Amino acid sequence: MILVEGKNLPRHIGIIMDGNGRWAQLRGEKREAGHKAGSAAVRRIVRVCRRLGLDALTLYAFSEQNWSRPSGEVEALMGLLTEFLVAERGEILENDIRLVAIGDLSRLPEGVREVLDPLRKASSDNQKMTLALALSYGGREEIAAAARDLATEAAAGKLDPATITAETLGARLPSLSVGDPDLIIRTGGEFRISNFLLYGAAYAELAFMDRLWPDFTEEDLFAAIASYQRRERRFGLVGKPLPAAPPTA
Ligand code: IPE
Ligand code: IPE
Ligand code: MG
Repeated sequence: MILVEGKNLPRHIGIIMDGNGRWAQLRGEKREAGHKAGSAAVRRIVRVCRRLGLDALTLYAFSEQNWSRPSGEVEALMGLLTEFLVAERGEILENDIRLVAIGDLSRLPEGVREVLDPLRKASSDNQKMTLALALSYGGREEIAAAARDLATEAAAGKLDPATITAETLGARLPSLSVGDPDLIIRTGGEFRISNFLLYGAAYAELAFMDRLWPDFTEEDLFAAIASYQRRERRFGLVGKPLPAAPPTA
């Protein structure tokens, strides 16, 4: 059993939920079956994070680049997303979870927006945990959109370009409205960020895990958190002194 300390928990965890397709392939099933199993893992992990008392959980559910997958797979993913939102609505509201979505939501099919938008609205005053779904999300696209807004304001004479800092740009990014991610977990064995929370990832602790997303359990989450708790976050400063070296003869 893995023990997690109640104090020193990450405030905000981001998860790159990868490996659904391979999970299905290993079973001789279609990729869509992997996404269905992945959706069940989302339910489990949201519950655990709420129980742990995290402030925010950002789940990378669909990237801007994922639109270029075969249309049947995209349709299946959108269908599962709609099912998830319908099925979880009650539990999200009962558990005081605020559901937000980040990404280019204008690209989502109407059927998704019809369930997503009312749930965002109904949960907007909830306090216990923010669940941010990254849908049609890309970190570069998010930064570009913020840069565009700043440039528009500057061109209109409403903003002095000299006042733009790393903080003011960060404050324009919807993905950071819940604060920087403290811990980013990627399942599925790849060692990359794949356009997730790029700006916020600056000082995030990273946990890359082999487990395929549909198999991801509470124990895996605890293992990632326990690893986070053993690290020293330095933010560019000087770390704690090392234990004194034994005297050399
Ligand atoms: C993650 O699983 C889900 C999405 C990207 C939507 P994948 O579908 O990328 O699974 P693999 O990486 O092909 O196994
Ligand atoms: C990242 O996984 C996107 C999501 C988990 C939603 P991908 O499977 O799309 O990333 P790459 O293609 O391996 O970089
Ligand atoms: Mg993948």
